[in-house]
Parts: sequence; structure tokens; C-alpha cells
Amino acid sequence: MEISNRIRGFQASPIRRLSPYAREAKQKGIKVYHLNIGQPDIKSPKEALDAIHNYPNDIIAYGESDGDLALRNAVVKYYNESVGVDISVNDVLITTGGSEAILFSLMALCDPGDEVIVPEPYYTNVHSFARMANVSIVSVTSLLEDNFALPPLSMIEERITSKTRAILLNSPNNPTGHIYSPKELETILRMCQEHDIFLIVDEVYREFCYDGLNFTSVLKYKDYSDRVICIDSVSKRFSMCGARVGVLISRNRNVIRETLKLSQARLCSPTVEQYASLAAFGAPADYIENVKREYEKRRDFIVKALARIPGVKCARPNGAFYLIAQLPVEDAEKFAIFMLKDFNYKGETVMLAPAEGFYESKDLGRDQVRIAYVLNTDDLEKACICLAEGLKAYNQN
Ligand SMILES: Cc1ncc(COP(=O)(O)O)c(C=O)c1O
Repeated sequence: MEISNRIRGFQASPIRRLSPYAREAKQKGIKVYHLNIGQPDIKSPKEALDAIHNYPNDIIAYGESDGDLALRNAVVKYYNESVGVDISVNDVLITTGGSEAILFSLMALCDPGDEVIVPEPYYTNVHSFARMANVSIVSVTSLLEDNFALPPLSMIEERITSKTRAILLNSPNNPTGHIYSPKELETILRMCQEHDIFLIVDEVYREFCYDGLNFTSVLKYKDYSDRVICIDSVSKRFSMCGARVGVLISRNRNVIRETLKLSQARLCSPTVEQYASLAAFGAPADYIENVKREYEKRRDFIVKALARIPGVKCARPNGAFYLIAQLPVEDAEKFAIFMLKDFNYKGETVMLAPAEGFYESKDLGRDQVRIAYVLNTDDLEKACICLAEGLKAYNQN
């Protein structure tokens, strides 16, 4: 009996596939600093935790497929008041994480064999979502040497073919930290209009922009409403990654109506967590302000700490909480395994995400890792010491 060729073609996530080595290291009593995954050590809002503790119903029942109405209304209020865009509750579908919103967008817009253009390096799980939807990713490369600035937008246009259905952006970007400027967004929207394709923008890190930079949501451009899908999530904004509550927003009624069929097939998103997400939207405004300030501090810290390690190069991210670092090794995956399997410094080590899987183009990112600076600066300091010592030991072998 054989399993499908399709499933064999999927990649094991570079963020998680080294987890068995981390587990073994922990079983040996080694402390592992997780720089591999965007799981912040920041507390979820008290309002959300209280809501879970005080869930008022006797049954954890199915909810509506398009999401809890009170939560959808809270999302609308947040967009109107905080993001400064005017959307209606009919534009909003609650999804099981931003992940499902990305998958649903690809399913709704593309037929099997269609193409979606994505700047690389990109959020690696998009690779799997594209495979699930039977869609090809066509990449446009940005380089560490250019601080991951976007390549000339004309390069995106050159990639558009008769099979292209959408451009998928992520801003602020995981893993590069790039934030799309209003000018870039407008140029890309005009390009989409000219070629009659959609623009999907994943804005799950919207709140985390540094150096005084402001964020512009794609939903601000109402003239292009019909061709825009915006992805959002409570995972990062409220440090509620395990809640699995995301949002798909589009003013294109056809997109919402057709996507709802997918929502109905999976019945509903988690009921209790939607209740907690609703409460999270009621958290005081300084919750986000404090979290953002903390990430900016961590960004400043880790960029300096990495610059001190011989042979390590990294770009300076403007947003989100990741960076790509180039290491003085040939194969970053082998090095990441070495760190977990064969190395510790004073009983501690780090887990890294090899970056090759964040690129579509072959042979890119082989000597790079993605680092999530989601730990407090004390832990980041110890993690960077482990990394420096690990590189020394690895290159002596
Ligand atoms: C860019 C980006 N989009 C979407 C997601 C998935 O978010 P969620 O937890 O809401 O599924 C992540 C998670 O790390 C991400 O980095």
C-alpha cells in the first residue's frame, strides 16, 4: 500500500523539522533557546486569559462558519479606529489562524496549475499552502546584501504570465522585516489592475514597525478594493499563537461568498478562542505599545550581538520579529543539527531555522538561518554566546 505522491512532495517545515533533535537535547538536560520559531515569550492580554477562565457556556459548541459575529464586529471596530480603514462586517471572515486565511485565499483565487508571485525569502509555510492548492509559486528574489530591499518592481511585472492569478506580499515581512511603503503598494496595486490579477497582503505583523516607521494597510486603497485580500491574525498581535484565530478580509463580495464554502466545510474556527480573541480586542491600547517597544529593543540587541560574531552577517529588519543571518558555514541545516545534537556551551544551546526553505530559488539561503528574536534580551544574549561558541567549535572540526 502506497501513500500519495502529493504528500511526499511536501516539505517538512524548516521551522519545526529539527524539533526531534531539540527534544533529545532537552532529555539530556540541555537548555535549548528557541530562535527557530515565532513563539513570543510575551504574555497574552489578561482580558483574553480571563475570558478563557470564565467561559460562560456549558457546551463548547460549533460556532458560525464565518466566525462569531461579536468578534467580526470587534475586528471591524479595530480596523475603523486603529488601522484607519473602513470595512464592514460582511467583508470579514474569521479563519483558523492566518494560515487558513492564506490557504483559503489561494483556493479561492487560483485553479490548479495557476501561479502566484511571491517575493523571496518568504514565509516558508506558504510553500505548503501553495502545494495544497496546487498552485505554483513564482519568486522574485531580494538579497541580504541589499538589506532585503525589494528588487525593482519591474521584476515582479516581468514574472506575470497568463497563469498568474495573484501577487502575495507579507508586510512587515517574515523573515526579512521589510515594510512595504505606500508608494510600493500603490505601484503593485496598479500593476495588478493592469494585468487584472489579485493582491493578497498578509499583515499579521502590522503592529510591529520600528524606527518610527508607519504602517499602511492595503485596505486603505479603496479604488482597488475588488482585487484585494488582507490576511490578519491574533497570533502575533496578542501573543495568542495557540488560539488559532485569524481573519480574511476582502471588500470583494464574490471572494467572501465563495470562500465561505471552504469555511462551511471545516465547520467553524475554535469557539472558546474566538471568545478570548474578542476579549483581547478590548485590551488597553498600551498593551500593543509596550509589546512593540519590547520587540524593537530585542531587534536592536540582536543585530548588535550578531555583528560581533566573526563571519556572521545580517540585515537590519524594520518590522516583524525575524531576521535572516548568513553564517560562516556551507550548510546551515547541518550546522543547526550539530548545535542540537553534538554541542552545548555550559549546558545550553540554540535551535535555528535553516533558511533554504524560505526561498523558492534553488541554492539560495544554504548558508543562512532565520532567527526569531522573540526571547527577552537576557536569553538572547545567552543564545548569541552559544551561537558564537557553536560556530567556533563547528569550524574547528
Ligand atoms: C507571515 C506569517 N503569516 C501567517 C502566519 C500564520 O499565523 P497564524 O498563527 O495566525 O496561523 C505566520 C506565522 O508565523 C507568519 O509568520
